[in-house]
Amino acid sequence: MITTELARIRVLPVVVIDDPRHAVPLARALADGGVPCAEITLRTPAAVEAVAAVAELDGFLVGAGTVLSPEQLDRVVDAGARFVVSPGFSAVLSNRASRHGVPAIPGVATASELMSARAAGHTVVKLFPAAQLGGAALVPALHAPFPDVRFVPSGGIGIGTAADYDLDPVLTVSTSWIAPRDAIGAGRFDEITARAREFRAAVGR
Ligand code: 3PG
Repeated sequence: MITTELARIRVLPVVVIDDPRHAVPLARALADGGVPCAEITLRTPAAVEAVAAVAELDGFLVGAGTVLSPEQLDRVVDAGARFVVSPGFSAVLSNRASRHGVPAIPGVATASELMSARAAGHTVVKLFPAAQLGGAALVPALHAPFPDVRFVPSGGIGIGTAADYDLDPVLTVSTSWIAPRDAIGAGRFDEITARAREFRAAVGR
């Protein structure tokens, strides 16, 4: 199951790729650092091609992020995305993902949004933007009324706060700290491997 794989890896790098030729070396750099997964955000024209390139790699779990419309969802699933992430909850996207049989992780920032997501069948949600909303303390606070939900905190989490999110209700910790856009663009893949290793060590287990 995808959520089991995500939980095992424990870290979800969020990446912005400007040149699709960077996608495969980036994925290899992440895997070398012990983090064989990525959420490729649909924030650049290169994103769908990047998803398709990485989907060919054995042993690497590729998802698409910043999925805002059903048409985008169709495109990334066709390209090989194994899961999709959105910054918020949308019933339309949720239905579309179910039709494809692809796990969707919607973003929530409040208990009300979490109730909507849960009513649509989601028990894994992105907690976004985690740091700006109050940080790791939010996780147990929201987990108390929703004990069946697991969280993917995301937004403003860097190496300095990564360990704070090493909590049972956290499925995996999402961050762009591991692979900054400029490091990807400049081909600094050794640096990305080192960051993956460092972040992975910080979230433990
Ligand atoms: C995002 O969708 O941008 C993620 O939440 C990553 O946030 P970050 O760039 O603050 O790590």
